[in-house]
Amino acid sequence: MTDQFTYGPDELLASHDYVEPLVLAGRRMHGGFTSDGTYVSPRTLNRWPAIETWQRKLAAGSGGIPLLDCPPDFFADFYPNVDQTKCLLEAGVRTPLAHVLTHIGTIEGFGSIIRFVELGDLQARFVEPIDGTAMAHLERGLYEAHARDESGFEDEGGHQQMWYLVRDLALDNPDVGDPLALTMKTMAADGDGGEVMASMAQSLGGLSRVVPEIDLQLETAITRMTGLLLIELLAAKTFSWAEQVVGDDRYCASADDAARLVGYIRADEAPHVEYLRTTLTEMRARTFIAENGQHLPGTTVIDACWDYSMRAMFGLGGKRQGNRKLFLTLIERELEHHPRRASILADFHDLETPDPVIDEPAPAKVGSQPSY
Ligand SMILES: [Fe+2]
Ligand SMILES: [Fe+2]
Repeated sequence: MTDQFTYGPDELLASHDYVEPLVLAGRRMHGGFTSDGTYVSPRTLNRWPAIETWQRKLAAGSGGIPLLDCPPDFFADFYPNVDQTKCLLEAGVRTPLAHVLTHIGTIEGFGSIIRFVELGDLQARFVEPIDGTAMAHLERGLYEAHARDESGFEDEGGHQQMWYLVRDLALDNPDVGDPLALTMKTMAADGDGGEVMASMAQSLGGLSRVVPEIDLQLETAITRMTGLLLIELLAAKTFSWAEQVVGDDRYCASADDAARLVGYIRADEAPHVEYLRTTLTEMRARTFIAENGQHLPGTTVIDACWDYSMRAMFGLGGKRQGNRKLFLTLIERELEHHPRRASILADFHDLETPDPVIDEPAPAKVGSQPSY
């Protein structure tokens, strides 16, 4: 336990001294192992103790305000779920899984755009002091550590490259073409992608605001963080899905290594969840200064942004429904000439887990991040 509240970027980016780096199938990934073989996530030497200290400070200073979390009813299963995925594998249909794992990797890589979020003079936006908090360290190492974790840094692969490796281990280096092409399809004219594009174009015309009283730059930063936190929280389901699928040696090669690698990615996500929910809860426990100088409770601002991200994910025409359509299109296309097409699809749909839905249209806004 530490009582150091202030860190420099180099400290927050520092990794442990590993006895052995993480190398699988000849590919170097981030993180490494201690002498007893335990995997330790990259850049957590000081980042973890710092986050824990900021959380203790927040709890003490706020009378125990709860950290932001996703309502339990919304921890939805990954689509296609484990049984659906295995139903396809059982029928020898492997390409959709290769594409889904590729898509997850590509989206993880997009996470690195967090390093371009600009906050401006954050202290000027709050009544209470912010020094010695997680929010004061976003641009002093926390965003950069997150970006490097997601898309790799220098000669070490990050989550993007790790998911591609999971795919290559499990499915024996399948040919997936251009990884970006599939993900760009979520934005393209077929399926729900067209709606995404249309609503993005619409919002270019008149930018819809979530909390119009506050500075636009700050609102953009907060909604990016609430959106990202929600994705990070829901990723828990993606990891357990992936471990069960790629870890099944009836269908996947190198099942142990593939599942182990998913476990390492899962471990790396924990500091992302914790620094984001700490930051957002620190803001929620404070008082915002609006553009006109008026004071706004942090609960008003953060709850509006959180609600916005929840609707973007689970609202009608939102990310969940868009991804379901995308994956289903892939599966249907793959089965087009399969002799048992109808029965495989019928079994596949029977196994579907109902997805939680917020019965309102999902909002759309320029810069809202894609999801998996
Ligand atoms: Fe990640
Ligand atoms: Fe992450």
